[in-house]
Amino acid sequence: MRKKLVFATNNAHKLSEVSAILGDKIELLSLKDINCYDDIPETADTLEGNALLKARYIYEKYGVDCFADDTGLEVEALNGAPGVYSARYAGGDGHDSEANMKKLIANLEGINNRKAQFRTVVAMILDGKEYLFEGIVTGRIIEDKRGTTGFGYDPIFIPEGYEQTFAELGDEVKNQISHRSRAVHKLCKFLNSIQ
Ligand code: IMP
Repeated sequence: MRKKLVFATNNAHKLSEVSAILGDKIELLSLKDINCYDDIPETADTLEGNALLKARYIYEKYGVDCFADDTGLEVEALNGAPGVYSARYAGGDGHDSEANMKKLIANLEGINNRKAQFRTVVAMILDGKEYLFEGIVTGRIIEDKRGTTGFGYDPIFIPEGYEQTFAELGDEVKNQISHRSRAVHKLCKFLNSIQ
């Protein structure tokens, strides 16, 4: 029987990205699949803290092996901001990508150091034991949006070694080099090593 693992998300984009990496040895379930419609708290002030909060919530309430992720865009000239607050950078309930990018571009105006990195932390709980995996992609922030694919800050982030933004490179390239895919590949390697 295939191993079941709950990914604490309902984001279809993330689910397909991650399920492509995990392959068919693992049956990946979403929150909907376990009938969880709760607003899971993300109140920690680090990516590690939030990923663990989400994974522990699911493990404690549903008793299933699971993992959760949290991602931030860390900009060097802004001392790591927006970081853990990336979704809510421009205020409000968050997830207003246009407003978030606008604020970031404004805050970097006149600053030559454009270095930034996406960092993902994945927290997994397997048989009650906790594991953390990190994935980073370094790059730079540009002044004007370019491209139409992806989400979040993709139109203003150019990964190192490329000349196009994540939103221009498209899902296939992005999924090979992204922060999230790097973290999930580590999780996958770990699962293979213990099977
Ligand atoms: P989450 O923890 O994956 O929900 O990510 C928090 C925020 O970081 C999102 O709301 C996006 O603004 C941003 N973000 C996360 N992953 C990506 C990505 O792959 N590309 C662009 N922005 C991202």
